[in-house]
Amino acid sequence: MKHTDIKSLFYDAQKYVRKSVTVCGWVRTWRDSKNIAFIELNDGTMLKNLQLVIEKDKVDENLVKPALVVGCALKVEGDFVPSEKNYYELSVTSLTVLGGCPQDYPLQKKHHTLEFLRTIPHLRPRTRFFEAVLAVRSGLAFAIHKYFQKHNFKYVHTPIITGSDCEGAGEMFRVTTQSWNAKYDKEADYYADDFFGAKAGLTVSGQLEGEIAAMGLGKIYTFGPTFRAEHSNTTRHAAEFWQIEPEVCFCDLDDIIEMAEDFIKYLIEQVVVLCPEEIQFFNDRIENGLMDKLDHVIKSKFGRITYTEAIDVLKKSGKEFKYPVEWGADLQTEHERYITEEYFKKPVFVTDYPADIKAFYMKQNPDGKTVAATDLLVPGIGEIIGCSEREADLEKLKAAMLKRNMPLESYTEYLDTRKYGSVPHSGFGLGFERMLMYLTGVQNIRDTLLYPRTVGSL
Ligand code: 4AD
Ligand code: MG
Repeated sequence: MKHTDIKSLFYDAQKYVRKSVTVCGWVRTWRDSKNIAFIELNDGTMLKNLQLVIEKDKVDENLVKPALVVGCALKVEGDFVPSEKNYYELSVTSLTVLGGCPQDYPLQKKHHTLEFLRTIPHLRPRTRFFEAVLAVRSGLAFAIHKYFQKHNFKYVHTPIITGSDCEGAGEMFRVTTQSWNAKYDKEADYYADDFFGAKAGLTVSGQLEGEIAAMGLGKIYTFGPTFRAEHSNTTRHAAEFWQIEPEVCFCDLDDIIEMAEDFIKYLIEQVVVLCPEEIQFFNDRIENGLMDKLDHVIKSKFGRITYTEAIDVLKKSGKEFKYPVEWGADLQTEHERYITEEYFKKPVFVTDYPADIKAFYMKQNPDGKTVAATDLLVPGIGEIIGCSEREADLEKLKAAMLKRNMPLESYTEYLDTRKYGSVPHSGFGLGFERMLMYLTGVQNIRDTLLYPRTVGSL
């Protein structure tokens, strides 16, 4: 169907002005009077609607009436002309209804609550809010690839079905073809009989396979879906979310921290340029002062504090926390938010966590108690990046695994990376949806995913 994108009309207006063009889209709103009718048409290529001006002496009234319906799909021909109020508008010469839209269409009003929109996920992309979210999602994905390609990283595709629980937190979804009533005496027999002949699950992280690729390619990144069967019913957790995981050889913790900061700032700069209308929309409608916040982040040097210092700050804060502050316990969201929102008032790297609360693969510090790991915390959200230098010493790595009762025989390939030409290397995981929340001010992760998967909701 030959037609022009509304975005092309506005962005390349000189090419189209005072010419006849064809556009397709959906009716967002309309107004009718005796001699003239107006339709706000949106085709999804940009947030802005194209105003259609229908003079009734030019277009057959019988064709106009069925088009004055919110949600219906139109193909329209007209002259693209300058307009005082709308920059440009379309003076309609002919019009066809491609798909009508009955009265039970749920998006009749101009504004709906995000809670209501979650009940109609299949129609959400037709709202300004969700159109803006999906546009920034797309722009952010593009910026991520741009950053890595510019810096000589290779994009690798790590498996989604895997046998290893990278984070060791036991949050894997099972992948099986076994019938629900299959009965076996021993667990091992049950898995041996399954499709892969072994216990399989959906990956929680592409890191371990990413490290394997990095050992040949030097610098790699993954960017794909990861899955966690966490029962945390919060506004920041999804069972299926996307993660960006760079893995860099010849790189220590300080180097990877520098890169992570540069990366986050680059993503903000790019998205502001790629999606200016959408960021303006979020600034006006979702988070007051969003643009100033993003500008401040780009210009500021991120904070840095050790876990041990952070515990001290929390203890001296005089704040009543729900969870006790104790060296050795994991930082809870309330602690993280105090550190980044009230103490630093900007993004901050918390480094050198106790080894016992972190994953097996992290480089052990000389103090024997902490690891060379860091979380990047940002105001309004908390953790958006989990990062570490990896333990490159084979014997130390084995010891950490044995301490966690991990079966070394299941990790021989991973251990080989430390046996054959081991190098200092580091990496991190950025939560894509959390970054999106930070960029847009959207408060609930359910409003950043086309079909959010959360506990109790498919
Ligand atoms: O801190 P995490 O668990 O780190 C890893 O998985 C490492 N293997 C990454 C690496 O070093 N390659 O997760 C990384 C990030 C978190 O900081 C958070 O932003 C996001 O992934 N994340 C989630 N986002 C949404 N829903 C969840 N349930 C998430 N769990 C983690
Ligand atoms: Mg983490």
